[in-house]
Amino acid sequence: MRNIILVGFMGSGKTTIAFELSHRLNMRYVSTDDLIEKREICTINEIFTKKGEDYFRNVETLSVRDACSMENVIIDLGGGAVIRDENWESIRASGLSICLTADEDTIMERTKKYKHRPLLNVEDPKQKIRSLMAKRAPFYAKADHCVDTGKLTIKQAVEKIVGIVENVPKKARTE
Ligand code: S3P
Repeated sequence: MRNIILVGFMGSGKTTIAFELSHRLNMRYVSTDDLIEKREICTINEIFTKKGEDYFRNVETLSVRDACSMENVIIDLGGGAVIRDENWESIRASGLSICLTADEDTIMERTKKYKHRPLLNVEDPKQKIRSLMAKRAPFYAKADHCVDTGKLTIKQAVEKIVGIVENVPKKARTE
């Protein structure tokens, strides 16, 4: 098992936790959203506006494949990447997947001050969060492990994940 892939809904803590975890485990931090923006030389908001979500998902799949083929990385996976089976093939071949979760209110609180997520720039973001979370639940459930970040500090969440990683048999970690 080479890599650790953090999956989960927008605002579940993937970016901050992946970044801290990368320092803690001396691994590299990689974000599929960053790879997408580099590949397209524009922001995710611009991609959604100019080319639409389907186009975004296609570029995302290429970026997930690229990130998953790297070595010794913590991958901060865009929240919607889980909906494609093809991405799960990349994730499973790459390493250990951990889904970060938080309840609807926590997600709302954490995301409301930002404007870089096109799917939440809508009239009723709470309703959008609720419906998307319900729709995606079966896809997030595919992860190897799940950590609820709702009541944890970043440090606590990181240590919880380190505990999970350390419990994976060594053979599986290096395969
Ligand atoms: C998305 C999540 C975002 C980003 C894009 C779409 C989603 O990433 O990929 O705005 O569909 O859930 P984060 O989960 O890092 O916010």
